[in-house]
Amino acid sequence: MDVMNVGVLVSGRGSNLGALIEDASQAGAPYRIAAVVSNRLGVPALRRAAEADVAATVIERGAYADRHAQQRAIVEVLREHDCQLVVAAGFDQILHETVIQAFPQRILNIHPSLLPAFAGGLHAQADALECGVKIAGCTVHIVTAEVDGGPIVDQVAVPVLDTDTAERLAARILEQEHQMLPAAVRLFAEGRVRVEGRRVFID
Ligand code: GRF
Repeated sequence: MDVMNVGVLVSGRGSNLGALIEDASQAGAPYRIAAVVSNRLGVPALRRAAEADVAATVIERGAYADRHAQQRAIVEVLREHDCQLVVAAGFDQILHETVIQAFPQRILNIHPSLLPAFAGGLHAQADALECGVKIAGCTVHIVTAEVDGGPIVDQVAVPVLDTDTAERLAARILEQEHQMLPAAVRLFAEGRVRVEGRRVFID
């Protein structure tokens, strides 16, 4: 079986990158992490990539004339490593058409809420508590021009407890992210994902 090359975009802690690296290292995994691109220098995600011997490139916004030029450089790196799927795993920039069109329906994002609830913001877990919802969770979706609005690949619900703070809730959601994201990547690597409009079907 062909092993799919996956590129991962990161900006910070990189715990989801760690989960992907770990899963890709399992015997018979249908994908490998071929490249990591960070838009920030010196973040823990880069250390994780180095420890796993994964090629990592820093492409900072400030080093380019504008966001388009920076994101064109990101596409170039992903192409150099022959990435067939791209995962935004804690990447803190909105992806421009340049990137989306280079990888049509081949970019995944992980978001710490049950979309379309609490989309867009950086504080989805705190917003969930503020709103008083009883069920929170996380979503893997395909990236389209609509921020946090692309077809949903998978979601996991996480109950909100009376004792929750934003940090505690985020930690329990993160545990689920670390399961769900590698599982979603495997589905793509196995060619089992079919998209019809906003709906995703798993064959
Ligand atoms: C995660 O909560 C993810 O859902 C969100 O950003 C966070 C990234 O965490 N998009 P990490 O860098 O993977 O640890």
